[in-house]
Amino acid sequence: MLSRSDIGPAYARNAAPFLHGPEIEAMTAALMAGQYGHHTETEQFEAELAAFLGVPDVVAVSRCTAALHLALLAAGIGRGDDVVVPAQTFCATVHAIRAVGAVPRFADVDPHTQCVTADTVAAAITDDTRAVLPVHYGGRAVDLRALAPELAEHRITVVEDAAHAFGSRHRDGRLVGTTGALTCFSFGPIKTITSIEGGAIVPRDRREAERLRTLRLLGIRAKQAERIRSTDYLVDGTGLPYHLSAVHAAVGRVQLRHHHIVAERRVTLWRAYARALVDIDNVELIDVDIDYTIPFNAVVRVPDRDVVFARMKEAGIGVGVHYPPNHTQPAFRRWTRHRPLPATEATASELLSLPFHPAMTEHDVTTVTSTLTAILS
Ligand SMILES: Cc1ncc(COP(=O)(O)O)c(C=O)c1O
Repeated sequence: MLSRSDIGPAYARNAAPFLHGPEIEAMTAALMAGQYGHHTETEQFEAELAAFLGVPDVVAVSRCTAALHLALLAAGIGRGDDVVVPAQTFCATVHAIRAVGAVPRFADVDPHTQCVTADTVAAAITDDTRAVLPVHYGGRAVDLRALAPELAEHRITVVEDAAHAFGSRHRDGRLVGTTGALTCFSFGPIKTITSIEGGAIVPRDRREAERLRTLRLLGIRAKQAERIRSTDYLVDGTGLPYHLSAVHAAVGRVQLRHHHIVAERRVTLWRAYARALVDIDNVELIDVDIDYTIPFNAVVRVPDRDVVFARMKEAGIGVGVHYPPNHTQPAFRRWTRHRPLPATEATASELLSLPFHPAMTEHDVTTVTSTLTAILS
């Protein structure tokens, strides 16, 4: 078996999202063992995720979109309910709300972090609000503690979209996923750790964990090991095929073991961007609270974003946009009781995601920022 010191340098150089020998070996071993679907490998990944976070249980699923859908179902959110959510998120967050028949109620964001705040969430709550779905944009932990008494009084559930925030901490030191909310992670291809595709939910208690396990496996109750031994299984509720395959779980397990290497690299790169961008006029780096965060991306606000985007592409720099806001998307407009979202609307057309992945070097960061400087001047 490879030791950490054998693998470490490879991760530091190439790092996730690219897969290395150890992941390929783990996938091969799962395939050779005939583990194609949900299997004991999945259950081991769940136990290791729970140990990493320091929580009693974690339920692995096929994607974060599935995690969000199941979390809302498990919390009893459905038709006629309002769910408060930022318009500034990936459309998957809003699709999960629509999938349970609830109505997205868009909240504004802080323009400097692109995250909701206790104030913007409070302003969006209605008498029909049954859940609040904050998104830890860029990996930054959203702190809604100021709202906790109001949420508790009105029995409003908090479901966290932590697709970007695996390994990030709140300012009191607690890891995202350990503060008592139903928390959903993504292990998609460009996430801090990847299982190629995958996700996980941190349930609030044992009953909820059981319900989520049944929901994610077509309503079937029983562990894989028990199913193999038995001639029967029990379908005692609704459910969807949202389980995580053993092959994906095998990749996730290897990635989890190297999380610290990739995390350090992401923090180093983000800090390099912060240093390089500080002197460029009219460019603001979206703040991720770097002392507590494992950053998912490096996003700037720039003037004439579409022109800068095109010029950066022409220069061979792989920029992107996270995200075109959802409240104006045709798919969601009709479900939205629209309200003004001044910060979202003022900043959405300025957002530009700079290249950000752990395989980059600090020299790459300098290339990106000097190209941006040249274009802006
Ligand atoms: C904020 C956010 N939520 C949800 C998702 C959906 O995650 P998945 O691709 O694992 O379904 C993503 C994916 O990138 C995301 O960025």
